[in-house]
Amino acid sequence: MDQAMHQVPLPSFYTDLSEDQAAERIEAARRELGSRLVILGHHYQRDEIIRHADFRGDSYKLAKDATLRPEAEFIVFCGVHFMAESADILTPDHQKVILPNLAAGCSMADMANRFQVRSAWKQIGQVCDLGEVIPVTYINSAANIKAFVGENGGTVCTSTNAPAALEWALTQGRKVIFFPDQHLGRNTAWKMGYDPEADMCLWDPFQPMGGNTPEKVAASTFILWKGHCSVHKRFTVEQIAAARESHPGVNILVHPECPLGVVKQADFAGSTEYIIKKVRDAAPGSVWAVGTEINLVSRLAKELPDRTVFCLDPQICPCSTMYRIHPSYLSWVLDRLLDGEVVNQIRVPEAVAVPARVALQRMLTIGTGASAVAG
Ligand code: 13P
Ligand code: SF4
Repeated sequence: MDQAMHQVPLPSFYTDLSEDQAAERIEAARRELGSRLVILGHHYQRDEIIRHADFRGDSYKLAKDATLRPEAEFIVFCGVHFMAESADILTPDHQKVILPNLAAGCSMADMANRFQVRSAWKQIGQVCDLGEVIPVTYINSAANIKAFVGENGGTVCTSTNAPAALEWALTQGRKVIFFPDQHLGRNTAWKMGYDPEADMCLWDPFQPMGGNTPEKVAASTFILWKGHCSVHKRFTVEQIAAARESHPGVNILVHPECPLGVVKQADFAGSTEYIIKKVRDAAPGSVWAVGTEINLVSRLAKELPDRTVFCLDPQICPCSTMYRIHPSYLSWVLDRLLDGEVVNQIRVPEAVAVPARVALQRMLTIGTGASAVAG
């Protein structure tokens, strides 16, 4: 979130609602708003939210689902800020995108801002021909980073289509700068056969030349921004060894925001949608240690009781910002809509939305290709 998003405190009426009362109010509001409303829910949302979603999905699927109900006046996005921004960019002006809690950001997305990105671009231009450098941003980034990428011939990607997006980028130029998740960038490039040492460098936005020699930047096919997800960086190879020891025959399934060592040791890696499909399609009796956010893992375990599904990290790690979408906030924004007031609308200014849309639409045109980073 580049611009400060301030969430007003909820009226105590909403904070005092019991779980059942909030659920009843949300359902009543949904009935009354009918086809004027569509609710989208990311897989990391808690059960008390996801049960109200018309569409659930990973970032890629939700970016597409956002466009499926053009008759809906209101798109309530139960996810984080960059997802709501992308939905706003991809939908027409008559549709209003609402984020129930404006404090629901993504700490990884905040690790690259437009000033740092422009400065990096300028410095890279001192050692490379910028006409040969293609910027690719993970969808977990602010709209103005997507705009920068759109203006400079690049694309957005998600964990679902990162391999296809990087393959595409290398048909457009000889080098890629990838924002802001070093791990997704490294894992994907490694899967494509590139060497993490010889072919990649890490760009630290707080160091001149990203902390590299000019020769290293010039020689790297992939310049990886030094960002990470604090949830996924907690998964370790030691946890994988422990899971294999305690559950012989276990399948290790992780999100590609995990470090490369973890992805290398895992049996499978892919987006949240991929993770869900993999376990759903598995044989009854199979055992799965999953390296991703706990709400998704717990829901899978509950929905598929004939499989053993557990979190790879015994300390369990929720995404604290996704968790900020509490039913009280959802109930509040829906009640305000019933009263004719739109609160918490996410509006990307046109000057940013136009080039950001170019980058997002490129992502949709490139499509998914191979869906898994490993496995
Ligand atoms: P997915 O696109 O796989 O759902 O990932 C989004 C995300 O933020 C993972 O941390
Ligand atoms: Fe961002 Fe990580 Fe949360 Fe995903 S899990 S929304 S990358 S902080």
